[in-house]
Amino acid sequence: MGADKKMIIQINRNDIAIPERSTGMNLLTFLREELRLTGVKIGCGKGFCGSCTILVDHKPAKACQKTVVDIAGSSVLTIEGMANPDGTLHPLQQAFIDAGAIQCGYCTPGMVLTAHGYLMRNPNPTREQIKRAMAPNLCRCTGYQQIFEAIETAAEHYHL
Ligand code: FES
Ligand code: FES
Repeated sequence: MGADKKMIIQINRNDIAIPERSTGMNLLTFLREELRLTGVKIGCGKGFCGSCTILVDHKPAKACQKTVVDIAGSSVLTIEGMANPDGTLHPLQQAFIDAGAIQCGYCTPGMVLTAHGYLMRNPNPTREQIKRAMAPNLCRCTGYQQIFEAIETAAEHYHL
């Protein structure tokens, strides 16, 4: 990449020009420290807990396992981009609140994004399918049942 060339990534519907010095950074560090998207949480840092999950081109990805250059030209969604432009929560976020699926909240951004990516591909999931889809995301507080309930309830909003 030339000195004046910048890599473009679309993040939460905005095109962001990435300075060359940042292209080799760990993606989780970049999102949190350079873009201040601190809804992307740091957990294990090793790809095991799912707290750093974002969507890259609509598919869940663990930001701690990527560098910035891995997502060149992609479209990224973090939890900061889930709400509607008028500030109202996305129905999936609201369903998490209504079902009591949030306790400490640390796992919640990653949970919501994994579920969002899944429901876009499969808007009619069974409870078993939801459990399998959410297996990469760990929660130390809720016991998972309310999370599964929230996803089941929100699924109808993904029907075309
Ligand atoms: S912080 Fe990325 S999977 Fe745990
Ligand atoms: S709500 Fe605390 S880790 Fe899930």
